[in-house]
Amino acid sequence: MVSKALSPDPLLKVTDLCVSYQTSPGGLFTKPGSFRAVKKASFSVQKGQTVGLVGESGSGKSTIGKAILKLIPSESGKIEYDGTDVTGLSESEFLPYRKRIQTIFQDPYASLNPRLTIGSIVSEPLIVHEPGIGRPAREARVAELLTKVGLPADAMRRYPHQFSGGQRQRICIARALSSRPEFIICDECVSALDVSVQAQIVNLLQDLQEEFGITYLFIAHDLAVVEHMSHEVVVMQNGEIVEQGTSETIYRNPQTDYARKLLDAVPTMPSIGSV
Ligand SMILES: Nc1ncnc2c1ncn2[C@@H]1O[C@H](COP(=O)(O)OP(=O)(O)OP(=O)(O)O)[C@@H](O)[C@H]1O
Ligand SMILES: [Mg+2]
Repeated sequence: MVSKALSPDPLLKVTDLCVSYQTSPGGLFTKPGSFRAVKKASFSVQKGQTVGLVGESGSGKSTIGKAILKLIPSESGKIEYDGTDVTGLSESEFLPYRKRIQTIFQDPYASLNPRLTIGSIVSEPLIVHEPGIGRPAREARVAELLTKVGLPADAMRRYPHQFSGGQRQRICIARALSSRPEFIICDECVSALDVSVQAQIVNLLQDLQEEFGITYLFIAHDLAVVEHMSHEVVVMQNGEIVEQGTSETIYRNPQTDYARKLLDAVPTMPSIGSV
């Protein structure tokens, strides 16, 4: 394993994180007991940068994302956010961090409620995190966010089914941005999209990083996307981090056969940067 010294003062620092799932006792396909999906994972993400988290299906990438968001409990290890150990915080103590840390998921179809207008969807985090905000200010904010992600402001009165996959992912990004987060976990957020649309969304995320200094943990199978997005790359296999380093090092000189295989499996994406 190639490890990289953790730089000082990262926005996110994960140390020796272990996460286990309880498996149902005696199920048809499951052994009774617990299954450790993440084993002693350590990595950090510097402010304003992107770390790509890659690995084959089932390697534990989403589990790490969920543990950071406290959607599932950590078994052991430490998660520090902006210098604070958040691992043991209660839900109410963690609430302020829910404003600062947002997430964008793979499936823009499943993650948008079909009965709500785009305006209601995008303003959801605003209502939770800025309850005092009045309707005119909220609408102005939604219009600004939609414009920012390349959609017309009047999209706010329409419904998710009236948009394409790429447009829906833009709506998810607008929703994630609405609480003015510092950190966004993008879990396979472009995997369901066509390659040309992937490139547009990746460019949009990079523009938003430049404009707002947003920090990303970018989870993907697609090493081509990660290469263009990421300052650093973390490679996972069977719940363990097997390689990590700068994007350039991993791509030019992968240290493990596994990382080499992940690289070989991926076609390059020449259109990125020019879309
Ligand atoms: N709720 C759960 N209960 C039990 N096991 C789970 C649960 N969620 C995930 N797992 C298992 O934990 C392991 C890691 O899953 P995880 O979803 O983190 O993988 P992943 O790297 O995100 O995969 P993919 O690329 O397919 O999304 C897998 O073996 C999976 O089957
Ligand atoms: Mg996953």
